[in-house]
Amino acid sequence: MNVLILGSGGLLGNYLSKVFQKSNRVFTPSHRELNILNYEQFYSYVKEKKIELCINSAGLTNIYYCETHTEEALKVNSYAPAEIAKISKEFGCKFIHLSSGFVFNGEKKTEYVESDLPEPKTVYGFSKYKGEILILENNPDSLIIRTDEIFGYLNFTPGHNVIGFTIKKILEGRDVSLYNITTSPTYALDLSLKIEELSRKAVNLSGVLHLVNKGFVSYIDIAKFIKDFLKKNVKINVRNDELIEKIPKNCALKSEKLESLGIESMPTFEDGLKRCIKEFL
Ligand SMILES: NC(=O)c1ccc[n+]([C@@H]2O[C@H](COP(=O)([O-])OP(=O)(O)OC[C@H]3O[C@@H](n4cnc5c(N)ncnc54)[C@H](OP(=O)(O)O)[C@@H]3O)[C@@H](O)[C@H]2O)c1
Repeated sequence: MNVLILGSGGLLGNYLSKVFQKSNRVFTPSHRELNILNYEQFYSYVKEKKIELCINSAGLTNIYYCETHTEEALKVNSYAPAEIAKISKEFGCKFIHLSSGFVFNGEKKTEYVESDLPEPKTVYGFSKYKGEILILENNPDSLIIRTDEIFGYLNFTPGHNVIGFTIKKILEGRDVSLYNITTSPTYALDLSLKIEELSRKAVNLSGVLHLVNKGFVSYIDIAKFIKDFLKKNVKINVRNDELIEKIPKNCALKSEKLESLGIESMPTFEDGLKRCIKEFL
């Protein structure tokens, strides 16, 4: 299959590219080579390369930056994916898009499922939710995968890949400071493998689907798990700064759809974390 991965230079895009390359013809243009805001270029790219599956892992993902750059967040996270969905439909190309647990208000005491009603609190969350709506309007066959707190062995910029950064710091014997909020930590490799599996067996899967490693845990407990696993004597502090009020306190997700489709769920986050830590050693 001819597969186009947008955002291949990013955390998830990197893993997706490696996983899909095993049994597909994969195109991984960089941000500079194919800007998703350039619709004409995207149109020609899909046409010329005869793309059959387009996965959009590109996005404006820095929630702090999005708070003060609403227009840009909407362009990249809402309008461009909607246009990509429309063009994909014209060429009969399956479109898979990545969305986020930030579409929810974070007040639920357990994991959010697909039937829960979104109510984003941040500009980032709003732009992702608007993207979902516009994509499905333009191309109802699109598959929107909501995931949460992705981790892996790259892109350790502060505020991004928080868990990968935590593994790195604890390995170096440094103390860590984290928000005491809950999440479903998701290993980029496990998510990529599941997306690849779905792309093979379920061309007809569409709408919103939650995909995360199994679990519901606070960042503080994740750090404790890493600390114990690595047997390191570091301090774990609770972080409390200005955007905390807007950040949903719980973005954890669970899929009620996967089960109903008879598709095996992803491994537990503890399992994913142990395998990811090995990438660092
Ligand atoms: N990370 C998480 O915890 C998380 C959780 C839930 C959902 N998601 C969603 O999952 C997807 C992937 O996340 P990620 O963490 O892998 O993101 P990431 O590491 O920030 O990567 C995003 C990629 O998109 C590229 N990009 C940005 N604007 C672009 C444009 N206009 N045209 C083409 N490429 C562009 C970036 O390139 P440059 O670096 O050159 O700008 C980067 O390579 C995103 O949709 C995100 O919203 C992420």
